[in-house]
Amino acid sequence: MIEVTDLTVRYGPAGGGVRALERINIRIEEGSIFGIVGESGSGKSTLAMTLMRLLPKSGTVEEGVIKLDGTDILKLPDREFRKMRGSTLSLVFQGAMNTLNPLIRIEDQVAEPLILHGEQNRAKAIEKAHETLQLVGLDSSTWRKYPHELSGGMKQRAVIASAIITGPKVLIADEPSTALDVITQVQIMNLLRTLQRTLKMTVIFISHDFPLVSEMSDRIAIMYGGKLCETGPNALILNRPLHPYTAGLIDSVPAVGRKKRISAIQGDPVDMRNPPSGCRFRPRCTKATDSCGSFDYTVTHAENEHDVYCTLYGN
Ligand SMILES: Nc1ncnc2c1ncn2[C@@H]1O[C@H](COP(=O)(O)OP(=O)(O)OP(=O)(O)O)[C@@H](O)[C@H]1O
Ligand SMILES: [Mg+2]
Repeated sequence: MIEVTDLTVRYGPAGGGVRALERINIRIEEGSIFGIVGESGSGKSTLAMTLMRLLPKSGTVEEGVIKLDGTDILKLPDREFRKMRGSTLSLVFQGAMNTLNPLIRIEDQVAEPLILHGEQNRAKAIEKAHETLQLVGLDSSTWRKYPHELSGGMKQRAVIASAIITGPKVLIADEPSTALDVITQVQIMNLLRTLQRTLKMTVIFISHDFPLVSEMSDRIAIMYGGKLCETGPNALILNRPLHPYTAGLIDSVPAVGRKKRISAIQGDPVDMRNPPSGCRFRPRCTKATDSCGSFDYTVTHAENEHDVYCTLYGN
């Protein structure tokens, strides 16, 4: 179980800079798929990097606790956390398939995390790499190839193999299919789902693509401008969204074969350097009232662990 409480992350100097995450609260059940949705700049990758303790130097955790099975991972000494990173918690970085080393064979790149985590027998590491590559659907004809000899989908499979070779309990996948065509995208999604089931992992799936996240996840969180809008069971949010931003996201999805009018959300994304007071979605919200300007993001608990941050609810 992962519990994130009041997580606030800033880039840049204290008192200035950008608050990329502000008081984020989420709970992720062991063995589930948890989806995180939000438009570009909403803080999704920042959350992933904070969970992995891989924020760049300019990034600071101002406040908050991240517990993994009861352990506060932000407080662990570096040495201890380094053992955990990659073995307990693993991340498929956003755009990772484009950062494979062009000069290193696939089998070696996949074996590398194992060697980093102490496997001294290279032959053994390569054998495990082969097993893992097979598991992600890459057969022996690909093992000794270089990245440029593989298609996008195959590269993404290799990246996933290197993330799971150490047998992590938690796999974070940050936009794992964004650069792929739709057919390949579906294949990667199916692969992640199969791996989650067979390896009994907890998967955190991050994407700006609402239908994709909804398709994949048991529970989802919707983010806007570094804040949470709504979290809850996927089916409930899809059928009964509470937050106007979520409702807008759902209405902006084209439905194949149906003559549904698509309505885009009006206005521009938040200027994170100068966010509006109160609710960050307020300037674009069709339901905004005066009270939204001083909204302090008090959570309203609806039924079935469905939480919403909006002045339309509560009181
Ligand atoms: N290294 C950094 N230094 C300063 N600001 C940053 C840095 N990384 C991200 N930011 C800012 O933090 C905010 C959140 O960025 P983040 O990359 O987490 O968003 P995202 O939801 O992953 O977006 P995308 O969908 O484009 O991947 C943005 O306003 C971004 O400009
Ligand atoms: Mg991102």
